[in-house]
Formats: sequence, C-alpha cells, structure tokens
Amino acid sequence: MTEGRGAGALLVRDLAQLATPSGAEAPARGKALGEVEVIERAFVLCEGGRIVASGAMSQLDTLEGEVEEVDGTGLCAIPGLVDCHTHPCFLGDRVEEFALRAGGATYEKLHASGGGILSTVRATRAGDEAELQAAVERHRDWMLRAGTTTFEGKSGYGLDRQTELASLRTVAAAGGVPTWLGAHAAPPEFDDADAYLEFAVAEVLPEAARLAEAADVFVEEGAFTVEQARRYLAACRDAGLELRLHGDQFNELGAVDLAVEFGARSVDHLEATGEVGVRTLAESDVVGVLLPASALFLDRPMPPARALADAGAAVAVATDFNPGSAFCESLPLVCTLASTQLHLAPAEALTACTVNAAHVLGRADRCGRIAPGFDADLVLLDAPDWRHLAYHLGGDLIATVIQRGRVAWTC
Ligand code: NIG
Ligand code: FE
Repeated sequence: MTEGRGAGALLVRDLAQLATPSGAEAPARGKALGEVEVIERAFVLCEGGRIVASGAMSQLDTLEGEVEEVDGTGLCAIPGLVDCHTHPCFLGDRVEEFALRAGGATYEKLHASGGGILSTVRATRAGDEAELQAAVERHRDWMLRAGTTTFEGKSGYGLDRQTELASLRTVAAAGGVPTWLGAHAAPPEFDDADAYLEFAVAEVLPEAARLAEAADVFVEEGAFTVEQARRYLAACRDAGLELRLHGDQFNELGAVDLAVEFGARSVDHLEATGEVGVRTLAESDVVGVLLPASALFLDRPMPPARALADAGAAVAVATDFNPGSAFCESLPLVCTLASTQLHLAPAEALTACTVNAAHVLGRADRCGRIAPGFDADLVLLDAPDWRHLAYHLGGDLIATVIQRGRVAWTC
C-alpha cells in the first residue's frame, strides 16, 4: 500500500481522526450526502502532490527513503475545502454601506440608487491589474488560512472589457478557477441592460471564453431578466463555457427553470425558492449552491436547504465572499451556518463544501476526498472530533493546511 513513493513524500501521522466523504459518486445526494467515513488514529501519505495511501496507523508500512513527517497528534484531517462561489476580484470595500445597512438601509435600495455592486465597479476600475492581482492574492490567502485549498473566483466588478479580462487573469494567476460574471449588473455608460449585454457578448465573451471555465449571470430585479439571461447563457454555452446562475436571491423569477433548461452546473443563492423550485431542482442534475453567509449578512431568509436535501437535490455550500453581501471567506463558519441555519448535519455540510463543490467546478475526480489518486489537499483541525469544523462557531481551529502535498499554512 505504500509502493511507488519517491522524493517529495509527506506523511501525516498519528491523526486523532481522518474524516472524508464516503464512496466515489459525485455529486453526493440523498442518503450519500451525509455519509462520511471516519478513521480513528489515522495517517495520510502523499507523494508528488497526490494522496497515495490513507488509513489506520496500524496499517502503515515502514517507509523507506526521505519522507517529511507532520505530527497529527490531537488533530483531525478533512479534505481541503472547496469554495465554489466567490467574488474576490475587487478593490476598495463597502464598510460605509455596511454601516448604513446596520441603520436600516436595504441592500436592494442601495443597489437601485447606484451604490452596491456599482460602487465596487467604480473602485475596481480605478485600479490597475497589479493592484487587482494583489487584492485577489490577499483574498485567496484569507481563504487558504480558513482551509480553502481550491477556490472559484468570479469577475463581475469590471463590466468593461479591460477590467473583466484582467479579473479572469488574476484569478487564474492566483491558482483559482475563473468564472466570467459578465452579467452581474449593467454599468451606467449603457442605456440599458440589453445594450450592455450586446456589448459584453460581442466584445468580451470571445476572450473571456479563453480565460474562464464558466459563465455566470445575476437573474434578479434590477439586474437581468430571465429572457436577457437566456440570451447571454446561450452565447456563453456556444462559446464553450460551463454555465452558472445567481438565482432566487430576492425574487423567484424563473432562474431554476432556466438553469435546468441549459443543464447549468449550478444555480446559486435560492433564498426565495419555493416548493416547485425545490422539486424541479431535485429532479435535475443542477447543483443548488447555498450561501448562508450571504443570507445572514443581509438579514434575509435562509434557503430551503433541508427541503432540497430531503428531496434528493445535489447541494453545495460556499461563502459567496464579496465586499457587499458576504464579506466572509470562512467555509468553517459557513459549515456552522449550514448546521445551525440550514439544518444540514455536519457530515452533509462537509460533503457540500468538498465533493459537491468540487463537482460544481468540474474537479470531483481529483478534489474533495481523502483517497488515493486525489490531490493531496488536507486541512488539519485542532480538535478531538472532525465535527468541530461546524461546531466551533468562528473558532480558531485550523492548525495546518496542506495543498498539493506541501504545508501551505500552519498556525
Ligand atoms: O452573490 N447577488 C449578486 N452578487 C453578489 C453580491 C455582489 C455585491 O454585493 O457586491 C452575491 O451576493
Ligand atoms: Fe455571488
């Protein structure tokens, strides 16, 4: 079981527990969503950036050659976390807006009056690519320290050719998975959303399709209608991109049906999704990405996560990290919200931000599990039981993050 090692081997030994989503199916749904295999007194052996073996310490053969060791005594290993929905490409902040919201202003009204997303667009356009790169790397490092070893990053705060393409380049250069959120909002230099989309599809999409893996659209009052989103998604699909949607955040306009119509990878938010939408999603292969930090931050209703999971929908959870609706980079905190607000068991929350999130990013064959052949991405929790991931509210429990077989961060 330890054959084939060479230079660059890393052994994490004497772990209190190793916890990984069971099985090999992705996405995990129904009963499988909550099936996590736990091994007490465990090890993980990595080589060449991949996991080559894992199991109980009693099964560990004597290792020969040079092996770097990490002492896992008192720690629990889980797969490196996968954040499948973030908006890290921005400059400036929205702390003023946050203070106004604390005093009663609503996110929708700030957006409608030219604040919100468009205020971040102004700040982001005012910087250059080097500043944007530094910001994305800073945000990536915050995520890494919270246990995220794979992140998706959306553009969407440029909404002009130069800043949108720069955003996609910076995500890729920071090691992330770039998504073109070309349809986030219509910027003020266009007469209306139709005119903006015509420009975006003609002038930005051809190059965006080379840089990004997926396209995303915000279907919402004050953003884009279902009909506008349909045109945009069709063009993006024809250009070879996978599809994602922001849908049912405030109003149920038909984003779930549209996601199913296009065979999108995911439809994200779903705070306003009703029973019919739940059933439609459960009968489809589209993943429902739940963003409880955003609902909490905006004091909005939580998405119907339990109903979705019980109906057999494939669900993932993500941070939605962004400066306006969710200034939160922590998937462990999102797991706490998943258990306390979405009523997902800790095991369901873990699967939702590992295997299922990896599936949304088209990486379920190599991310999200502790199993031979998978990327050697691990989070070591300073806890006696892996479920402290969700239990320790805002806790300082990330001891070490291993990424592609190397210690990327340790406390
Ligand atoms: O997913 N809803 C649209 N987009 C982001 C928020 C962007 C912002 O407020 O800057 C979201 O919540
Ligand atoms: Fe978002």
